[in-house]
Amino acid sequence: MTPLQLSDTDPAELAVDAIVVGLHATNGTGRAGPLLAPGAESVAVAFEGRLAETLGLLGATGAVGEVTKLATLGTVSAPVIAAVGLGPVPDEDGVPGETLRRAIASAIRALAGAGRVAVALPLPDDHASEADGIRALAEGALLGAYRFAGYKTKPQPGRRDPVRSVVLHVADAADKTARAEIKRAGIVTSAVTRTRDWVNTAPNDLRPPAFAAQVAEAAADAGLGVEVLDEKALRKAGFGGILAVGMGSEAPPRLVSISYAPKGATRSIALVGKGITFDTGGYAVKPPQGMWEMKSDMSGAAAIAAVMVALTALKPKVRVTAHLPMAENMISGTSYRPGDVVTMYGGTRVEILNPDAEGRIILADALVRAQEDAPDYLFETSTLTGGQVVALGKRVAGVMGDAALCERVRAAGDRVGEPAWPMPIPDEVRKGMDSEVADISQTNSGMDRAGHMLQGGAFLREFVTEGLPWVHLDIAGPAYHAGEPTGYWTKGGTGVPVRLLLELIDDIAANG
Ligand code: BES
Ligand code: ZN
Ligand code: MN
Repeated sequence: MTPLQLSDTDPAELAVDAIVVGLHATNGTGRAGPLLAPGAESVAVAFEGRLAETLGLLGATGAVGEVTKLATLGTVSAPVIAAVGLGPVPDEDGVPGETLRRAIASAIRALAGAGRVAVALPLPDDHASEADGIRALAEGALLGAYRFAGYKTKPQPGRRDPVRSVVLHVADAADKTARAEIKRAGIVTSAVTRTRDWVNTAPNDLRPPAFAAQVAEAAADAGLGVEVLDEKALRKAGFGGILAVGMGSEAPPRLVSISYAPKGATRSIALVGKGITFDTGGYAVKPPQGMWEMKSDMSGAAAIAAVMVALTALKPKVRVTAHLPMAENMISGTSYRPGDVVTMYGGTRVEILNPDAEGRIILADALVRAQEDAPDYLFETSTLTGGQVVALGKRVAGVMGDAALCERVRAAGDRVGEPAWPMPIPDEVRKGMDSEVADISQTNSGMDRAGHMLQGGAFLREFVTEGLPWVHLDIAGPAYHAGEPTGYWTKGGTGVPVRLLLELIDDIAANG
């Protein structure tokens, strides 16, 4: 992980390879060219007041995320300035945290190849908002500098390494709150990058037994309680859903349970995450074009495992248990098939109609298991449906379940820049899943794709005790970023919803 320090030394005098400064857009204000954002005053002085003008001549406009590099030729200690756009001059609340997070990440990525980079971006004067700004900058810098180790065996000519270390310029580098924010950002971003690493790992290297072993090792190293059920134990205990999906693969399924139980906690949260290490679609086989992306179908389980590890460092006062079902959805002589009836953990019988709707089948088992711990809140997350992507796109997750908890999840996501939007579970959608032969069908019996994100929610709700505050977060879109890097999203796994979850857990620890 990239080291990150605070400094209150004049950035113009720091022995660094580059300084990041901010630019505001001035479109429509009558001023020509961008405006230098606060934080870079001493750098501007060294340029005799002509820095913004020069950057404007180089084409900088101040648009969010735009990066313009400039050679300093002895004006300041650093040989290079990277000016990053922060959008229009903000109101008195300052630049939004998410803008800072994305902007600094773009600058850090543009400076790949540099060693030490100083950041002189605007931070609000008031202490609490300053802390939020520092958190955003630290998270953005650390996430923007992420790179997956990858599998290349040949040297990569022209490929520049991520920035080696970052110095954040603040008013007072000894300030306790500022230092606490840096420490927290390190823990939180480690959880995000741990998730990204798991998601980016090739699926042949991360089949359920390997994934379970890695998660169990990380959890045990962090001092968490861990239990792994293998296929024999799953059979003995009656986890029919996990077995049905998992037994089509030679690499058998697992259920990993992790517990964090700090002293003095009065509330408890159960987390459940989808851990399909690869989803071929089974006997509803997916088209080959995008199938490789289904290596990310364990994003929910990876995020929760990483969150559990982070809790041991963040130490919120709330009990948290995680149940992570892991399986590989493959085609073979032992695969489950349409028409099968599966007896789930807890006894509910499900008629299988579409083997590609495998997530809900393993999740239902885990949800029932999670409720045996008698949690106050039940939170589940999964790359569950393509319908989520159609409805809400690649950035916004879908939230279903208890209305009050949906709102808390939405608000938590909004605070950290991992947006999630509440979706209904209409009665007629559930009705469409009535089965002729079993308690419920796996999908709409007409195989109708209308509103199929909601079908996922309707199915899962069936396995949750009425009255328990419960939420299902569909992250099919936001979990994986196949396009070019943008902001702090590098190519591949994004680490969503790690930051949302940590924020929500903090909220529950603080407010019940
Ligand atoms: N893992 C997929 C959902 C998915 C799609 C995740 C795109 C990420 C990106 C899931 O198991 C699946 O195949 N869902 C089906 C459900 C349908 C059969 C009811 C889908 O979305 O088509
Ligand atoms: Zn899937
Ligand atoms: Mn599927």
